[in-house]
Amino acid sequence: MSVLPVAVAGATGRMGGRVARAVEADADFRLAASLSRDRLGGDWNGARVLADFTSPAGTAALAALAAERRVALLVGTTGLDMDARAALDAAASKVAVMVAPNLSPGIAALGRALKVVLAALPGYDVEIVERHHRAKADAPSGTALALGAIAAAARGLPWPDAGRAGRSGAVGPRPDGEIGLHAVRGGAWVGEHAVLVAGPHETVELHHVAHDRDAFTAGALLALRFLAGAGPGRYTLEDALGP
Ligand SMILES: NC(=O)c1ccc[n+]([C@@H]2O[C@H](COP(=O)([O-])OP(=O)(O)OC[C@H]3O[C@@H](n4cnc5c(N)ncnc54)[C@H](OP(=O)(O)O)[C@@H]3O)[C@@H](O)[C@H]2O)c1
Repeated sequence: MSVLPVAVAGATGRMGGRVARAVEADADFRLAASLSRDRLGGDWNGARVLADFTSPAGTAALAALAAERRVALLVGTTGLDMDARAALDAAASKVAVMVAPNLSPGIAALGRALKVVLAALPGYDVEIVERHHRAKADAPSGTALALGAIAAAARGLPWPDAGRAGRSGAVGPRPDGEIGLHAVRGGAWVGEHAVLVAGPHETVELHHVAHDRDAFTAGALLALRFLAGAGPGRYTLEDALGP
């Protein structure tokens, strides 16, 4: 395996900093460039893949640059807006692009398992429960929404319309075709997601716990290696898992 040169944008931030340090620490990778906000268009020093952990505005700018320079792109940034999405669509016709709002390999594997479970249990109800630390600003989590989208696709339901975030008051019996989303907040949980697939006599529960943020770093390295060998197009972290 050849040493893979990687550029990281957002390396002064929490997640980009972790990924940059992991790249530096791994002999299979080389940190070719660390791109600060005012030098996105500077020398990427031979990088073959760019890891982006910035903001939607940063992603839009980086997608255009990556396409122009024919550098594959891993987007870890979340909350992407229309501009960023359009820039990524354009870039994907030129280079490999992976948008991964949750880089944990375990969550990617859970998504794969969920498709198998839902195909086998067509009439069962789907509820998603997530727990995060008390400082998390958004709810439900992006990962819960991504799991909901997988469930909706498997059930042939419209998404996000089929999602039901929380229940309160006289909501009546649970209708068919609803995917429940429930956000628990408190303490220091890094991130937990449970998908409950509930039938009349039994429940299957797929449960993932991130013990620390290096779960995301491990997935980032996996994704970077995968993207270096991929042609133009869109990919997900699931593509980078083994068969
Ligand atoms: N995919 C995953 O698994 C995963 C995991 C954790 C976090 N994230 C996402 O990663 C992103 C960053 O999170 P974080 O916690 O690391 O945030 P953070 O600590 O605030 O760091 C953000 C970094 O992005 C840079 N930045 C912001 N806007 C920029 C722009 N327009 N152009 C260039 N650089 C820009 C910042 O540079 P300055 O220092 O100049 O401000 C900083 O280096 C968020 O979207 C977060 O949700 C994803």
